[in-house]
Amino acid sequence: TEYATIVVETRGRVGWITLNRPEVLNALDTQIMRDVVAAATAFDADEGIGAIVVTGSERAFAAGADIKEMESKTAREMVEDDHFGDWSRFAAVRTPVVAAVSGYALGGGCELAMMCDIILAADTAKFALPELNLGVMPGMGGTQRLIRAVGYAKAADIILTGRRIDAVEAERSGLVSRVVPASDLLEEAGKIADTIASKSLPSVYAAKAALDAAMETPLAEGLRFEKEAFAALFDTEDQKEGMAAFREKRAPEFRNR
Ligand code: HXC
Repeated sequence: TEYATIVVETRGRVGWITLNRPEVLNALDTQIMRDVVAAATAFDADEGIGAIVVTGSERAFAAGADIKEMESKTAREMVEDDHFGDWSRFAAVRTPVVAAVSGYALGGGCELAMMCDIILAADTAKFALPELNLGVMPGMGGTQRLIRAVGYAKAADIILTGRRIDAVEAERSGLVSRVVPASDLLEEAGKIADTIASKSLPSVYAAKAALDAAMETPLAEGLRFEKEAFAALFDTEDQKEGMAAFREKRAPEFRNR
């Protein structure tokens, strides 16, 4: 499928989505939202895909929601057309998603990265939630996901001041998992995604679902979820294969069932 605002490729078992509105630093308008959601859900439905990478350009992962598209909207319109609503379908894919961030990840761009499971940052990455500078506030999950990533003190500082943080501060704060030289970003993101995609799909889906559950449930409920998900994997062929391979001192050959 051809998309107007993104480039989509499959490399081995990894699906790549490259945001491609360079003239506006990948500002996220309705079209790019639809394209990213369509590409991600198509990869999610494909058994040949075990991980997804989302990336932008060297200069910008994404400089935010498209300000020019939003500018004239009324509150009623924002509610009625649920302006950012489709992004929840991106956040809900079962397949792990790696965000490979170089340059600006501002506002909705930072919020898109936070919908992903792993954020890999180039040393040139700059993160901010600058919405208060525009007279609004984060609206694509920023107030809820940033606090879960970095805690109240840092999240309040970042959101209320709108200041930018660099890759080093982002890693120190727990917003990103690793920082790499910009020239290595895509290669390293590919390695992470290949590693995930080499595992048994049922175990990967279950682990991601349990991680997600941890974000939204009290501990006791999350532990119940984990216990059931863990037990269910013992009915998969890949559990038998994975453990037999260990016993036989060889690499497992997972069949994703
Ligand atoms: C629409 C954008 C844009 C955006 C950049 N552009 N960001 N268009 N929406 N979010 C456009 C510019 O208008 C310009 O187009 C072109 O991209 C290049 O940007 P420049 O500003 O000329 O580049 P530069 O001087 O290098 O500055 C880069 C920048 C700056 C620091 C990233 O563009 C910037 O501050 N952008 C906005 C960042 C922001 O506030 N993001 C949060 C958006 S609100 P022209 O046609 O002029 O050349 C948000 C809300 C989320 O995300 C949901 C809750 C409401």
